[in-house]
Amino acid sequence: MLPDIQKLREYYSEAPGDVSLDELDLERVPRHVSIIMDGNGRWATARGLDRSKGHVAGVDALREAVTTSVRLGLDVFSVYAFSTENWRRPQREVDLLMHLFATTLVNELPLFHQENVRLRFLGDLEALPERTRVVFQRGLDETADHTGMVFALAVNYGSRAEIARAARSIALDVLEGRLDASDVDEGVVSDRLYTAGLPDPDLLIRTSGELRLSNYLLWQLAYTEFYVTDTLWPDFDRWDYLRAVVAFQGRSRRFGGVVRS
Ligand code: FPP
Repeated sequence: MLPDIQKLREYYSEAPGDVSLDELDLERVPRHVSIIMDGNGRWATARGLDRSKGHVAGVDALREAVTTSVRLGLDVFSVYAFSTENWRRPQREVDLLMHLFATTLVNELPLFHQENVRLRFLGDLEALPERTRVVFQRGLDETADHTGMVFALAVNYGSRAEIARAARSIALDVLEGRLDASDVDEGVVSDRLYTAGLPDPDLLIRTSGELRLSNYLLWQLAYTEFYVTDTLWPDFDRWDYLRAVVAFQGRSRRFGGVVRS
């Protein structure tokens, strides 16, 4: 999608100094940006607050990131909201996150309608609390006809489990004669991942300075450019996002080949 330049200029009307919209090449905006939102707990602890307050502040940062993604004209924006390993957190924190996911989704439906955003979930939703699942389904139903950016939320997502699930489904199809083993190629695997039909991320951003993938989109990130910032997720704003995209545009992507002049 091409960005609406007028809206983008208004959105970025106040420059904070070290980055400007003029540095952005509007013809080379990534199609898919994915973010590992990290640092909510540290943000809260640094302020003497309960970790839950960090997650609540993280919702505001996420709302801004969705809007920025739309303004930039992305086709897909995805975020890692809850991993298969996050169940190990204290029950109180897990409960709060599940509650936040559900309430945020309901609260943000008007934004999704206004911006023509289509929702999608990545992960095993079966294990989620009933209310969260019901609200997620409502979000899917109400945005199904939207034709703008896809906003993909990874919830109860783990990449190894996703790949194992795809392998199981392929094995079953081969066993029952629907698929020939010699036809199993990268496309067949991709089509059985939660991200089926979506382009792979061009840019992965991780906040809070951690240099890990944390079991996120291991297959899909094969040729993705990484950008890590020390900014904690609740502080991540449209300017941080712009810095990341400008940095991405300064990279030379070769996909294993050579630079073409
Ligand atoms: C990482 O911070 C953040 C999460 C595990 C959850 C992300 C959730 C939100 C941003 C809330 C809103 C999300 C939606 C989808 C409505 P952390 O707790 O790992 O922080 P720490 O590393 O500093 O402890």
